Amino acid sequence: MSVRPVIVVHGGAKTISEDKIAANHAGCRAAAEAGWQVLCQGGSAAEAVEAAIRVFESDQTFNAGFGSTMNSEGEVEVDAAIMDGATLGWGAVAAVQRVRHPISAARRIMEEKPRLLVARSGERFALEHGLEMCAKADLISEEQYQEWKEEAEVADRPNTVGCVALDVNGNLVAGSSTGGVTGQPQGRVGDTAIVGCGLYADNRLGACSTTGDGESIIPVVLAKTAIDALVGGNHPDQAAQYAIDTLIDRVEGEAGCILIDHQGRIGWAYNSQDMAIAYMNEDLSEPAVFTGKEQPLAIA
Ligand code: GLY
Repeated sequence: MSVRPVIVVHGGAKTISEDKIAANHAGCRAAAEAGWQVLCQGGSAAEAVEAAIRVFESDQTFNAGFGSTMNSEGEVEVDAAIMDGATLGWGAVAAVQRVRHPISAARRIMEEKPRLLVARSGERFALEHGLEMCAKADLISEEQYQEWKEEAEVADRPNTVGCVALDVNGNLVAGSSTGGVTGQPQGRVGDTAIVGCGLYADNRLGACSTTGDGESIIPVVLAKTAIDALVGGNHPDQAAQYAIDTLIDRVEGEAGCILIDHQGRIGWAYNSQDMAIAYMNEDLSEPAVFTGKEQPLAIA
């Protein structure tokens, strides 16, 4: 029996200033549309998640791929991961440079052998597997460079992007991609590439992608905490809120998460001021897009 596909994307838990709302809406809509095209043509959830995140990684509005935030040395170092809920397979890269689409590297790693490849090892893998490479500087946007040069205190720091998808075969996949934290020391790696923290997927329960402060997300294993909260049939919106409440209770920091459960129900929660989100399913003619959650989703 064919399952009704669903996709949810997020462009990060953050403060979104008035002048950035349109760009966040457009980017989330484009990412959801790219993933949806894959799903509604019968493609796999892994293909859809990769397609959606590649859109974010090409858009300087978001902290992933091109336009990522810069580290203390004025460089972009990126992390990404993907997880397949059917097999519990996963792949990840961290602190890599010169890789145009880190999510594609993560997916190729997952297909070959689950592991996390860091820095030169991740770059070598991408090169040897024919993935698109670029000069280090090609991932730096003019806006991020100016902010770094001026050591600007910017209110609306970008944050990690991600996607969760359910395909017609009932497979759930989660993916996340990030440039990390502004001014981070060279080689610092947050939650995004770490299974259970930046993402999790299990066909028996659901798929989750997180965003926010890695140092806060890691100790509460945010994505797995959200997935475990689905046990017993809890709605994904309740599970997402439980995970964020756990983070608030136990550590300081801002975070958000998106969820799809194995029935295709969706949910999200965050404790930042805003969070850019879009979702798409067969009932909609175009993606529903948000920069915040005005009211709880209807719990069905
Ligand atoms: N969530 C991104 C990071 O902390 O690196």
